Amino acid sequence: MSNLLITGANRGIGLAITQLALQQGDCVWAGCRNPQAAIALQALQADYPERCKVIELDVVDERSLQLAAGNIVDALDLLVCNAGVQNGYGGMSAEENTMESFQTVLVTNIASPFFTTRAFLPHLRKSSGQAKVAIISSLMGSQTHTAANAYAYRASKAGANNIAVTLSHELAKEDIAVGSYHPGWVRTDMGGPNGDISAEESAAGLLVRFNELSMQLSGQFINYNGDKLQL
Ligand SMILES: NC(=O)c1ccc[n+]([C@@H]2O[C@H](COP(=O)([O-])OP(=O)(O)OC[C@H]3O[C@@H](n4cnc5c(N)ncnc54)[C@H](OP(=O)(O)O)[C@@H]3O)[C@@H](O)[C@H]2O)c1
Repeated sequence: MSNLLITGANRGIGLAITQLALQQGDCVWAGCRNPQAAIALQALQADYPERCKVIELDVVDERSLQLAAGNIVDALDLLVCNAGVQNGYGGMSAEENTMESFQTVLVTNIASPFFTTRAFLPHLRKSSGQAKVAIISSLMGSQTHTAANAYAYRASKAGANNIAVTLSHELAKEDIAVGSYHPGWVRTDMGGPNGDISAEESAAGLLVRFNELSMQLSGQFINYNGDKLQL
């Protein structure tokens, strides 16, 4: 059994990871912006009162991160930085490509894994096993993924991958492993109804990958099915 904290746990891939980790016997701190509205998480908390703890957490608000970190005394073995946003698939002239939407996407997807990891580093340091950080990125952030759209999102996930690599170097001396992961094209609010896989299939693959993460694999970008991806 391990202790994990996941951001954006109230829907989509984050909710599926939370549910599966609880079924597998882990203790989950399920972070979300609005616990009162998180009906699915409340149901999981009722099913697993000892092992599911819903915690308020906005990943772009440092004070919220610090409050959440202050409310947790336990060690964390795994931190999953899953919360993310997208602003559409348009090209240069698309209306959604505003300075404001770039700021939201870049701060949420790049800066928040950094600030979230920093907030929960004291808990990871207390892990009695291999402490791990998993950043949910996207193949759309790979420099080898050629496409002509989604500028902010692609740049944000390239940045998230870079944050993972830099964290892997800085945290190596503390024996904390860091990986970035593509969850597949997943049928969620973000992925839409035509995605290749369900959130449950993605979560199942990702949990196997998190289990495999070691200091030898730290800094790598990995698909949910185990394939190594190009940054
Ligand atoms: N679906 C795909 O095909 C796909 C593919 C590649 C990568 N990904 C990545 O996988 C991750 C999860 O995606 P998803 O498909 O599950 O998306 P989703 O269904 O849109 O869910 C996004 C989650 O992130 C949370 N979130 C956003 N901003 C937040 C903030 N500031 N603080 C806390 N939580 C915040 C949302 O909370 P609220 O409910 O409060 O908005 C929600 O729980 C994202 O990082 C995404 O980029 C998804």
